[in-house]
Parts: sequence; structure tokens; C-alpha cells
Amino acid sequence: MKNKKNKSFRVKLIFATILRKFRIFKLKLFGYDVQYSTIIEGSVILDKLYPEGIHIGANTLIGNGAVILSHDHCKRVGNNQPYLTDTYIGKNCFIAINSIILPGVKIGDSVVVGAGSVVTKDIPSNSVVAGNPARIIRKDIVMNDFAALENWSLEKGWF
Ligand SMILES: CC(C)(COP(=O)(O)OP(=O)(O)OC[C@H]1O[C@@H](n2cnc3c(N)ncnc32)[C@H](O)[C@@H]1OP(=O)(O)O)[C@@H](O)C(=O)NCCC(=O)NCCS
Repeated sequence: MKNKKNKSFRVKLIFATILRKFRIFKLKLFGYDVQYSTIIEGSVILDKLYPEGIHIGANTLIGNGAVILSHDHCKRVGNNQPYLTDTYIGKNCFIAINSIILPGVKIGDSVVVGAGSVVTKDIPSNSVVAGNPARIIRKDIVMNDFAALENWSLEKGWF
């Protein structure tokens, strides 16, 4: 019974991985700067006006419902064109569900953005931010290549 469950989990994992890689392939075709190790869940919204302005590092996971922007509508430049700007998210980050990353923000490596946060300013590497506007709630965190915390465990909490 346990073996059967394990097998079906492995099959699901293989399909999910193929789907994820295909999603990244499509995003790259549209001009987004994303990596094959980046995980972008199904209902993430990436700016459609300026795809080349979205940069997401290796192993970073973007949770469902997150929105990442690289243009502003109300700020106009030149011949009444919307303001385009580059938005960066580093490697090994976890951007939790329903967060919003505003245009032009630079998020470092190994950063956790808490669920539902609105990131309005640059975030240094190795920190947890949360809230609207997002504020640093924890520093010196360590993330691995699965965008998971290395210095938190169920037994010890944060260490
Ligand atoms: C950010 C997160 C990882 C928790 O980090 P943490 O360092 O353990 O945070 P704590 O629970 O100790 O909370 C610290 C403070 O931040 C606040 N906080 C934590 N997460 C928050 C969030 N998402 N939005 C606003 N405030 C938040 C807490 O209320 C607390 O405030 P207080 O000090 O005034 O009481 C977690 O809250 C989170 O958002 N996880 C994402 C879950 C998710 O998206 N799951 C889907 C997986 S795809």
C-alpha cells in the first residue's frame, strides 16, 4: 500500500516537473529572464507589458497568486509611454502566495516574502519580509537550493 502511494507520488512529481519546465520554456520565449530551476506556480502574474524587465534567479519559488510588475501605468515618459523598469528577484528566494512585487524593486538572494505582502522597496539578501508595505521581520536567514530554510526546524524553531 505504502509502495503504491510512493509510486503515485513519484509519477505526479515527474508530471509536475515537466509542466514546470515547459512553463519556464514558454516564459523564456516571451522574453522573461527566468531559469529552468525557477518554480513559478500556475496562477502567478508576471508583467505582460515589459517581460524583459522581470529577472528571477535560480531555485526561487514564486507561489500562486503572486504578482510581479515591471511597468507603471500612471507614470508616463517620452511620448506618453508607460514607465518601464527592471525588477529583480535573486536566487533561492521564496515569494509566498498573493504577494505583490512593485516595479523596479530589487530583492536579494535567499529572501522570504511573507504571504500577501506588498514589496515596495529593495530587500537585502538573507532576510524575511512581511506586510504591506513589506518590512524586514527577520535577518541572517539561510536558504537552500529548494528555496527552503536551513536555519528553522520544527523541533528548534529558528536557530
Ligand atoms: C513569513 C513567514 C514565513 C513567517 O515568518 P516568521 O519569521 O516565522 O514569522 P512569525 O510568525 O514569527 O511572525 C513575526 C511577525 O511577522 C508577522 N507576520 C508573519 N507573516 C506575515 C505576513 N505574511 N503578513 C504580515 N505579517 C506577517 C507576524 O504577525 C508577527 O508580527 P508581530 O511580531 O507583530 O507579532 C510566514 O508568515 C508566511 O507568510 N509563510 C508563507 C506561507 C505560504 O505562502 N504558504 C503557501 C506555500 S506555496
